[in-house]
Amino acid sequence: MGAARGFGVDIGGSGIKGCEVDLEVGALVGDRVRIPTPAPSTPDAVADVVAEIVTRFGWTGPVGVTLPAVVKRGVAHSAANIHKSWIGTDAAALFAKRLGRAADDVVVLNDADAAGTAEISFGRPEGSSGVVVLLTFGTGIGSALFLDGRLVPNTEFGHLEIDGHDAETRAAASVKDEKDLSWEEWAHRVSRYVRGLENLIWPDLIIAGGGVSKKADKWLPLLDVRTKVVPAQLRNDAGIVGAAVAARQVTGG
Ligand code: BGC
Repeated sequence: MGAARGFGVDIGGSGIKGCEVDLEVGALVGDRVRIPTPAPSTPDAVADVVAEIVTRFGWTGPVGVTLPAVVKRGVAHSAANIHKSWIGTDAAALFAKRLGRAADDVVVLNDADAAGTAEISFGRPEGSSGVVVLLTFGTGIGSALFLDGRLVPNTEFGHLEIDGHDAETRAAASVKDEKDLSWEEWAHRVSRYVRGLENLIWPDLIIAGGGVSKKADKWLPLLDVRTKVVPAQLRNDAGIVGAAVAARQVTGG
């Protein structure tokens, strides 16, 4: 275990994934572990799974953990696809206690912020100058905003109101599946959403992430928007990598 290693855990509505991370290249070291998210996904139940994953690797250093939530100073202020009792929970303190770590050895951040951090660090270096937004299209829409490579945390651009609707209820990737939309139909919705966003913040670059970015060639060319949109380079593991990077940045390890 050298200085260039970290550990990240990515908590989602269906699975909790963790792995040791090579912080020089932004890649997982060996195979990640994935355990289904417990139901109900209460803080204590989820903390047990996080501890199980970290223990399986025998990892004793700082740990970064993502949540699908607004997270300020370790405290969750929202809860998307996880139990509502997360709201108001000091997640960093909870995980640190469960892992037997000092409080400042555990860093908790929003899942899209983690994915964006990984992408800017290792996937799309061109994203480290100007105003750049990474959008994750999945069950919902997550966002990470960067100014000259520095994260402005907890933007919740997936919840912009577009045509009177919460944007993610119209344009998330899950909506494409649920409503069986064609790529054209879904891209039309995404375009409406991105146009609403770009009129407000005028980004220099948008990076499209989430599982559907694997099929970028099917829908990015269909977008009718002003800003250049490129697919994320890091795939499923961006959250794990970004969490590990954030833990290093904060703990200085
Ligand atoms: C939540 C965000 C989260 C995103 C992706 C949204 O519904 O409000 O906090 O980043 O989903 O999981």
